[in-house]
Amino acid sequence: MSRQGEEDRHPFLEGLSKHRGAVPTVMVIFGASGDLTARKLVPAIFNLAVDNLLPGDFHLIGYGRKAIEDRAFRASMDAAIEEFSRRDLDKEIWGRVRDHMTYHAGGYDDASAFAELAKKIQQIETALGRGVQRLFYISTPPGVFEPIIENLGSSGLAATHAGTNLATKVIIEKPFGRDLGSARALNASINQVFQESQVYRIDHYLGKETVQDLLVQRFANSIFEPLWNREYVNNVQITVAESIGVGSRGGYYDSSGALRDMIQNHTMQLVALTAMEPPVSLDPESIRDEKVKVLKAIQPLSLESKNGDVVRGRYSGGLVDGRPADRYLDAEGIPPDSSTETYAALRLSINNWRWKGVPFYIRSGKRMAKRVSEIAIQFKRPPGILFSEGSRFDLAPNTMVIQIQPDEGVTLVMNSKVPGLETRTQPVKMHFRYATTFGSNTPEAYERLILDAMVGDSTLFIRGDETEASWKLVTPVLECWKEAGVDGLDEYSSGSWGPDSSDQLLAEKGHQWRNSG
Ligand SMILES: NC(=O)c1ccc[n+]([C@@H]2O[C@H](COP(=O)([O-])OP(=O)(O)OC[C@H]3O[C@@H](n4cnc5c(N)ncnc54)[C@H](OP(=O)(O)O)[C@@H]3O)[C@@H](O)[C@H]2O)c1
Repeated sequence: MSRQGEEDRHPFLEGLSKHRGAVPTVMVIFGASGDLTARKLVPAIFNLAVDNLLPGDFHLIGYGRKAIEDRAFRASMDAAIEEFSRRDLDKEIWGRVRDHMTYHAGGYDDASAFAELAKKIQQIETALGRGVQRLFYISTPPGVFEPIIENLGSSGLAATHAGTNLATKVIIEKPFGRDLGSARALNASINQVFQESQVYRIDHYLGKETVQDLLVQRFANSIFEPLWNREYVNNVQITVAESIGVGSRGGYYDSSGALRDMIQNHTMQLVALTAMEPPVSLDPESIRDEKVKVLKAIQPLSLESKNGDVVRGRYSGGLVDGRPADRYLDAEGIPPDSSTETYAALRLSINNWRWKGVPFYIRSGKRMAKRVSEIAIQFKRPPGILFSEGSRFDLAPNTMVIQIQPDEGVTLVMNSKVPGLETRTQPVKMHFRYATTFGSNTPEAYERLILDAMVGDSTLFIRGDETEASWKLVTPVLECWKEAGVDGLDEYSSGSWGPDSSDQLLAEKGHQWRNSG
């Protein structure tokens, strides 16, 4: 263990000793010249090395169409770590990984390039002389996911290394499909080549500490779970809000929109974790079985323009942090006839014993009042007998807020007496903050996810049936919006909390968004 590792060792890592000694691994990143590799993947691998969590024999091969020399690739990854890692570059530790890092140029649909890659990997395996696992990370735009998977199959690379029982694994980035049909087709291609147990579909939200903590909050405390149902919960609000606009990614974003980009994946995962039944154990399949049951229990959404379950919006100009902000239609790469939503809100009804009658409101948008991702469980009001009337009583519903980012933590809102001779009440907050309790240098989501894939723990990855259940819910909405064009696409000011129609969505049931102040 290095000095740096000892100083920075986070409590999170103490429970991970079982991961040490992971089997020798050859990891190939497809799309290695891209943004995600530099920003997240290689810094995550460096940090795993610092924490002594990489196998002793770890080989990294970058794959991409551009011809890049090994030396240049290594230098660009050094620079990436310097710019994006949460810890400073430690040349000694990184050097041990770097010495086994190469670049392989080839097309994603080029069978001969895959044959060359297979030779390269076999040479490494022969040199190591023992069982090696292959870990493929597909970090390209989704248009080439399928050719890569097909070539992994036809080149023999998907096969398990002969003479070992170390299964080859494949990690697949988002977006996983554009709708139910394409997600099913992608699952079918994957399942031709890999067993489901070899497939790791990424939703990096699941790698976030607070998202994992949700299960601990629910199932490791006895005070919340008895209340976590239709008897005590009035409504649930899940917000994934960004304050930035589309910036220079307008071309990509316009073909996606808030429903595909955020709701179908991250937000629906938060719904599943919040609403699921206790799993019989913590093994990955038990947890994923319970998540998929929730997704399947959500009623089809009403798409009526009046009193329907869905709202969409697009940001107009406004003020963000006191500065004027342009409209979506004026951003680079946006066609003038665009009808893409930058905001979506849904009212979900989960038709099961626990949640019948409790609306789950979910929303996500760009250029909103602030960047925040949170889950708010709003409990029913106490009976209005004692502290109910008059201005002396300001009774708020009890709310548990799990804040996923930024400022990760949990807040409980409850009513308290204002000190004084007269009885007055006021809502107060009890806070738990990760940074205060555990320090702020928490491992990043990608560190956790790469490590888990390496050791074969698929709990924090999406199973094929989960992704299809989620697409099944949102695909009719996408089709309806496509047909309607800009009809029903409500404008909202940049820097606000979304269009007025989203307030209406809650007001119909006597509810109100809890806009964090
Ligand atoms: N960046 C992020 O923060 C982020 C976050 C979450 C998820 N993701 C997902 O992760 C994946 C990779 O993201 P990224 O930002 O690294 O993407 P990227 O930079 O646009 O692309 C990665 C690499 O793929 C190759 N590529 C680009 N366009 C291609 C095309 N049309 N056809 C074939 N190859 C192409 C390029 O490598 P060569 O030219 O060398 O082949 C490029 O360097 C995407 O699926 C993205 O949705 C990214």
